[in-house]
Amino acid sequence: MDHFNERDGVLHAEDIPLTTIAERFGTPCYVYSRATLERHWRAFDRAFREHPHLICFAVKANSNLAVLNVLARLGSGFDIVSVGELERVLAAGGDPGKVIFSGVGKRADEIRRALEVGIRCFNVESESELLRLDRLAGELGCKAPVSLRVNPDVDARTHPYIATGLKDNKFGIDIQSAEAVYLRAAALPNLRIVGIDCHIGSQLTDLAPFIDALGRVIALADRLAQSGIILEHLDLGGGLGIRYREEHPPEPAAYAAALSYQLASRPYEVILEPGRAIAGNAGILLTRVEYLKHGEHRHFAILDAAMNDLLRPALYQANQDIVPVVRATDADPARYDLVGPVCETADFLGKERTLALREDDLLAVRGSGAYGFTMSSNYNSRPRVAEVMVDGDRATLVRERETVASLFAGESVLP
Ligand code: LLP
Repeated sequence: MDHFNERDGVLHAEDIPLTTIAERFGTPCYVYSRATLERHWRAFDRAFREHPHLICFAVKANSNLAVLNVLARLGSGFDIVSVGELERVLAAGGDPGKVIFSGVGKRADEIRRALEVGIRCFNVESESELLRLDRLAGELGCKAPVSLRVNPDVDARTHPYIATGLKDNKFGIDIQSAEAVYLRAAALPNLRIVGIDCHIGSQLTDLAPFIDALGRVIALADRLAQSGIILEHLDLGGGLGIRYREEHPPEPAAYAAALSYQLASRPYEVILEPGRAIAGNAGILLTRVEYLKHGEHRHFAILDAAMNDLLRPALYQANQDIVPVVRATDADPARYDLVGPVCETADFLGKERTLALREDDLLAVRGSGAYGFTMSSNYNSRPRVAEVMVDGDRATLVRERETVASLFAGESVLP
């Protein structure tokens, strides 16, 4: 459930009509709902209340400081994949002691900074990374807390671009060889082994792959215990899907219940890294119809937002709900392709949507709070859009719209 609802024929973000937001901040813009972010974070926190746990929001889903700050105030941890994300978490008031560092390609400077601020754990994805981490921790005179990200070889049954837990994916260490790698890690002087980690994919709408992966991870943790390597936590990654249009993903409570049987008999703390399930339906992309173009075979609504603002439809053929902000209109409905001004055929936000539209109408692309702004670019020299957060009856500009001048401010010509 989210807090984007229609009142008196107008879609609102919490208590504010989206028409007011468009007037105040212009379009396109992302609009986030604080109450929805908090509700979703608490749903995870409550779902795992029977068990020691830490919810680490996956910053890649939405890294706006205001979003991170709202979650930090709830006591959230954070899953990061770069020093940029780490600095964002710190700037937003996040606790470095609750930061998990994931990712296959951590650079030395990134590792050093994370060691300096004292993060909770490095999710290590290769033997080379283990050696680098050991050396850098030695140089700084500290012990690096380590989990190995194992690749459990389960099929997440999601879009191939966002499946990560199969043997052929670049992520993690093959679960078959993980035990040997743990033994080698245990022999390195500047590492402290604290856990095990897996993340099998994103937008999963079925619980079976999660249960399957957890079974394999626990079996490995048990074998490690027999070898004298006692883990403190199991990090189960993120990946729980959301409803974009037709999907019926399980709620966090059902997810927790499905895992609880295996977890209950074990002493481990559980770490989770949800991104989409917290932020996805806590944001919309607000856009305006610039032109209607009626061809012989197709009707196009040309919007002021494009693939550079919201890449998911172009990249994953993502099917997000697109709704008019003001319900009543005297226009005739037609089947529209909702496209942007970018010079690519893949530049669409929705296809064959039956809508009654007039030029200048406002539309909301729902489910845009995760992997929306964070994946946006300046392609076609389009300034990135504004981000607004609504809290009850208050709307705050939490990121200014970029200016045209900022687009090339760091560029120069040859002398
Ligand atoms: N942990 C790790 C190690 C991850 O790689 C990811 C996502 C997450 C947690 C968070 O997953 P979530 O709970 O959000 O599913 N851009 C794509 C999604 C890419 C996800 C990458 N990794 C999209 O827009 O669908």
